[in-house]
Amino acid sequence: MEDELIRIKNNAISMILDTNDPKELEEIKLQFLGRNGKLTAAMKKLPKINPSMRKEVGILANEVKETIEDAIKDKTHETKTLHTKANTKKIDVTNPGIKPPLGHLHPITQAISEISSIFERIGFTRVRYPEVEWDWYSFGALNFPEGHPARDDWETFFIDTKPSAKYGPMLLTPHTSSGQIREMENNKPPIRMLNIAKTFRRQSDVSHTPVFHQFETLFVAEKASITDLKGVLDYFTKAYFGHDRESRIRPYHFEFTEPSFEVDVSCGICKGKGCKLCKEGWLEMGGAGMVHPNVLKNAGIDPTKYSGFASGWGVERVLMMKEGLEIDDLRLLYSNKLDFLEQF
Ligand code: DAH
Repeated sequence: MEDELIRIKNNAISMILDTNDPKELEEIKLQFLGRNGKLTAAMKKLPKINPSMRKEVGILANEVKETIEDAIKDKTHETKTLHTKANTKKIDVTNPGIKPPLGHLHPITQAISEISSIFERIGFTRVRYPEVEWDWYSFGALNFPEGHPARDDWETFFIDTKPSAKYGPMLLTPHTSSGQIREMENNKPPIRMLNIAKTFRRQSDVSHTPVFHQFETLFVAEKASITDLKGVLDYFTKAYFGHDRESRIRPYHFEFTEPSFEVDVSCGICKGKGCKLCKEGWLEMGGAGMVHPNVLKNAGIDPTKYSGFASGWGVERVLMMKEGLEIDDLRLLYSNKLDFLEQF
């Protein structure tokens, strides 16, 4: 019985699709749904079938009926519009067409590819490392002592799984600095790494999202110096923000660099004079510093022979600074609101 119903449905639908003639449609309707129609006949057999199956077959029969009715209705509508006067009017094929809406890459994706190509030009290669990582790579090897309160600054998500005897608990990378260790373990100097990845922290308010992106540079060579670091920071600042912008470094503290700096970029609005946006002429961008000898050692590189510098900045942050964006709520960037995204 079910097979018969399906056959009737397929048969009817293919006939309906094949015609554009209103008269023929009327005939098809009679042929299937009329008093002596095929479906009507099949439905008459319903009371005779096994009571345990009746309900199910009844539902199917009704569905078939509705499908055929809908198909006839749609086709009737289609044939009517096909035959109305408006549609028989001549079309001016020289009229310009209607442009289909074109999408574009998400602003964060755009920023990531721009940052990558800027660093590529000075020989930094973009790499990817695990975003689900061991404590050792995110903290231990980066010179954070066990249980040190500095770890709290990173507000880390830990994974509820058995810790590794060697590498400690599993976590979601709270910063891209873990890539430094992976890179040095896998490569010999000279190293020029650009690690761009998702980073995760327990934070959610108008200016913080639990998932964001960072880009981390690592340079290791025989005589890497602060001058090299400053040169790269200046180069990036001008290439990304514009030639009239400058960078400056201020002393700071990170466990994994010595000395450590915070990097500021001169404000694009007042050009460093001081205004409402920046207060003192400078906008804070992120961290940088000379790789701590313990970090080099932990990753298998001889600190008496090699030195290095590193930096880690937020992708969303530089994007907002570049565009002069004052987003009231950073979460907008991830909201898929087209009227917002279309501005980029
Ligand atoms: N990992 C740091 C953070 O997330 C940023 C950072 C600072 C990265 C200094 C570095 C660095 O490579 O040298 O806040």
